[in-house]
Amino acid sequence: MKGLILSGGSGTRLRPITHTSAKQLVPVANKPVLFYAIEAMSAAGISDIGIVVGDTYEEIKAAVKDGGDWGANVTYIRQEAPLGLAHAVKISKHYLGNDNFVVFLGDNLIKDGITSLVEDFKNNGPNAQILLAKVKDPRMFGVAELNGGKVVRLVEKPTHPASDLALVGVYMFDASVWEAIDNIKPSARGELEITDALQYLIDKKYNVQPHIIDGWWKDTGKLEDMLEANRIILEDMKSCCEGRVDEKSRLIGRVIIESGAEIENSTIRGPVIIGAGSRIKNSFIGPFTSIYLNVLVENSEIEHSIILEKSVIKDISRLEDSLVGKNVEVYKSSVKPKAYRLMLGDNSCVGLK
Ligand code: DAU
Repeated sequence: MKGLILSGGSGTRLRPITHTSAKQLVPVANKPVLFYAIEAMSAAGISDIGIVVGDTYEEIKAAVKDGGDWGANVTYIRQEAPLGLAHAVKISKHYLGNDNFVVFLGDNLIKDGITSLVEDFKNNGPNAQILLAKVKDPRMFGVAELNGGKVVRLVEKPTHPASDLALVGVYMFDASVWEAIDNIKPSARGELEITDALQYLIDKKYNVQPHIIDGWWKDTGKLEDMLEANRIILEDMKSCCEGRVDEKSRLIGRVIIESGAEIENSTIRGPVIIGAGSRIKNSFIGPFTSIYLNVLVENSEIEHSIILEKSVIKDISRLEDSLVGKNVEVYKSSVKPKAYRLMLGDNSCVGLK
């Protein structure tokens, strides 16, 4: 069985971070989201993995390479534009052939992985298997309507959802999907929708098996979901310290200090991860925070946030619920008149007190 991870697309909801980077590479608990998908596939015994990539191909390839770190063989499949999930599958036909395969959306995180789901699919042999999860606001997702345990209808981002069961970003198919994809047309938003391909299979009486998952799952396409995923994963990690912590600092609760990180005169209240090469000086790092690689935090307080590599946070009394990109500087200025002086990228979002 082969795997296909979809990592094209443009990540509009995470701009400006995604103006310059792939949204699938934003780290959650200091690990790029995409790596969790590769790990999940690998753990399910899938080692031939195709990754569909768009404009961020080079960056994704530099991070994942040939997949050897996970014992996998990765093949990159270029999609010229984000023309839909079914389009991404369609252009991968030469790679997938007529084997059964699993599709995993590269910005989705599933706590319990996919091993048992892949086993179910192999044992029960339906034509397709979809994962569903109850969500608060189904209008943001593909939504399923069930009748007597069978899927009768799937609608992509409906205004008036028929249920609270959202399509989770993992799908399993046999070769009947090719007939479905060949028979669907682009939707109103101009995309070939995987939801429409599944609806085709349902209408033609193919066996589409629903599987409701109860462990948590996150689509990390939005800031709040990214921070929430970060919180949940950090809560499950084990403390360890490979860096240097001076005698004036306190580590409380689950704290991971990666190699070469330095903590000076600071309090770190877990769950927190401090990435390799980062330096925390005279500061407080509060619960649910991930500081990535080579970051400097000085005379500042940070909580419930993700700070990406090489950024500098200096003399900031309190930063919360934030995602700070790479090479960003946030500092207090003594220049008069007292004012906020900003250089923000397009689509930035800043909440000032
Ligand atoms: O997260 C679950 C939801 O994912 C489902 O409930 C929806 O039914 C499904 O359509 C999808 O909705 P999204 O709006 O979240 O999809 P998004 O555009 O964010 O794309 C998901 C992943 O697939 C992301 O890693 C980018 C990649 N992608 C997307 C498109 C449109 C591609 O590789 N190629 C594409 O053409």
